[in-house]
Amino acid sequence: MKLTEYKIVNEKFPGKYTFALISDLHGDEPCGIIKILEETAPDFILAPGDIFEPLEDKNNELNEAGFELLQASAKIAPTFFSPGNHEIGGVRSWLPKPKLSFEKEKKYSEYSLKRLAETGVRFLDDAYCVYDGIAFGGLCSGIINPEQKPKLDFLSDFCAGDMPKVLLCHHPEYYKKYLKGLDIDLIVSGHAHGGQWRFFGRGVFAPGQGLFPKYTSGIHDNRLVISKGLKKGRTIPRIFNSPEIVKITIAPK
Ligand SMILES: [Fe+2]
Repeated sequence: MKLTEYKIVNEKFPGKYTFALISDLHGDEPCGIIKILEETAPDFILAPGDIFEPLEDKNNELNEAGFELLQASAKIAPTFFSPGNHEIGGVRSWLPKPKLSFEKEKKYSEYSLKRLAETGVRFLDDAYCVYDGIAFGGLCSGIINPEQKPKLDFLSDFCAGDMPKVLLCHHPEYYKKYLKGLDIDLIVSGHAHGGQWRFFGRGVFAPGQGLFPKYTSGIHDNRLVISKGLKKGRTIPRIFNSPEIVKITIAPK
């Protein structure tokens, strides 16, 4: 697990703020991650999805690692979490052109909502809140919606006003499609796992983007930051692509 750092200059922020970005845990062991978060001591922690497998009763045991991570995060710094495609049960999104429709209603089990509330994180599910003079929004994955479109309605309210705005958005491919023209200062994503295999600094494949995708890691347009994810290995191994925690420092100069 490595710590990747980015710095952003943005005059909307009245001082220096640090954010830790954690995404795509997918049931992995959280202890090493918690240690790095403690050492990094960020002002805020942002978790834009796929921390859990579908938030259904059958996954309670598997999801305990995610609850443990978020509970520890919320003790280190105010932590914001928004759902990715896995939390809402859209788990076959790696198909380039899915023939199977995911269309269904979004549901979380009572147990999952109770455990999530116990962690102390702020759960941003197509919603935003204002904390410490910053607006934090969470755009849920739209993968189970008609045409797989995210629910963008809350963004007009979120984007109104002068305060700095931070949006958690699991899918980095939404940036170009839905978010690029909006007044948002920091957008954090995951989902692409760095493109799974990386050669010459470039990922090979990402769900929703296909082969040689543009948005798999790094910083884009001085405001979109993409995590390669936390999970060490999957059924498909990572190649030249370490899991990472990302630290983002934003300051007016
Ligand atoms: Fe994902």
